[in-house]
Amino acid sequence: MGFPKEFLWGASTSAFQIEGAYNEDGKGLTSMDVRSFKTSDTIADTKIAMDHYHRYKEDVQLMKELGMTCYRMSISWARIIPDGNGEINQKGIDFYNDLINELVANGIAPIVTLYHFDFPMALIEQYGGFASRQCIDDFVRYCRVCFENFGDRVKYWLTINEQMVITRMPLFQGIDEEDPIERTRLGWQTYHHMCIGHALAIKEYRKMHLKGQIGPVLSYPTYYAASVRPEDVLTAKKVEDMMVYCLMDVHYYGKHPQYLIHSLTKDGVMFKMEPEDEALLSDAKPDFIALNWYTTGIIGAYCDGEEINDDHAAFMPRRDRNIPGLAQFYLNPFTEYNEWNWNTDPVGLHYALLRMYERYHLPLMVVENGLGHRDVLSEDGHVHDDYRTAYLKGMVENMGHAIDDGVEMIAYSPWSFIDVLSSSNGIEKRYGIVYIDRTDSDPKELKRIPKDSYYWYQQCIKNNGNIKE
Ligand code: BG6
Repeated sequence: MGFPKEFLWGASTSAFQIEGAYNEDGKGLTSMDVRSFKTSDTIADTKIAMDHYHRYKEDVQLMKELGMTCYRMSISWARIIPDGNGEINQKGIDFYNDLINELVANGIAPIVTLYHFDFPMALIEQYGGFASRQCIDDFVRYCRVCFENFGDRVKYWLTINEQMVITRMPLFQGIDEEDPIERTRLGWQTYHHMCIGHALAIKEYRKMHLKGQIGPVLSYPTYYAASVRPEDVLTAKKVEDMMVYCLMDVHYYGKHPQYLIHSLTKDGVMFKMEPEDEALLSDAKPDFIALNWYTTGIIGAYCDGEEINDDHAAFMPRRDRNIPGLAQFYLNPFTEYNEWNWNTDPVGLHYALLRMYERYHLPLMVVENGLGHRDVLSEDGHVHDDYRTAYLKGMVENMGHAIDDGVEMIAYSPWSFIDVLSSSNGIEKRYGIVYIDRTDSDPKELKRIPKDSYYWYQQCIKNNGNIKE
């Protein structure tokens, strides 16, 4: 079997992580701009980033030489509507039109995320962002503007990137409430409003009869039970339901699952729903599921303090993370961890794709998957990232196995195309297959240098994923 002929091969980025030009041509400030200015003077911020805004033509040429047939990018809401819900910024529309035209002219299908963490600050100041119901209409209007302006050329739309991450990191939406219970509740209120925004964006898109597809982008950490002890198996399932499946369940079934409602109510953090919400959420089944897939985790039942009984999770060192009263995390001795504690588990990708497909039977695309590393530019002018090549090879092989097992796959688009600003570690933690010659404190010339992994991936694409060595 192997990869289908029409399979799309790409690589991914997001607007705030590469564009720079944070206040040029009318763009409004976003939550990610403000967050990056606050983080630290020594970590690169969004002001210049990778200067993709001015160098997109050069970047698209590198994509073409690589043989990419798709490119996952995002649109910055505040470039299109600087204050989030007012005037449309024609210069913002022009930039994305130029970029999309350049991609299409070079045979690269854009896969476009509508909201990838960079939220218009003005909406946080006006009414507190997605925690307010008002945001739903503003989001849907922004999506409509994108569909109207780019929908003739964009065939794949992704609504909200990693909604669960946004929910669990309320600061991404400017929520700095001190009381932890109220902060968590606001996070879940944001979640509910994003669910409705997602559903209405899909309905809006379908009303326009454009010839494309639309779906969510889930962060999909995949969990194994720490042992065959029934309590560990049950806990791993519960955590996965709350971290991953509750979101996909509402997208698919048009209704929040009971297990989510029970759990949030029990913890006193349940979101408010209006009588009309059930109807708003219904009838918006996505066309596909896009996955950001990086790691697997090991979970066992919670063991309080020193009373932990490691006999049940044989040989697995505990990780310094837990969910009090519910779950305990462990490290997996069969997989390697990078310095940021993310593990590499290509077989885990095979397993994850099977699980996601068997649950929803929707076509899948992997739109993020990659290895963060402190890459070094060698004296010979190259970046010898054989560790990344090994990583990609393992992932491609295992995606192929999932396809052989019957999983319908549309695309593979690893993270990232060029080096991006990591969402929390600046430029030091690099993911790209193209090196950007800059440091956190010195943007230098921002020269683009394809890494060794770029050339490996070029062959992989040429052979449609048939990688023998
Ligand atoms: C995903 C995000 O969660 O992970 C990306 O969609 C992010 O924006 C990527 O860059 C890697 O995370 P980090 O924190 O290492 O940049």
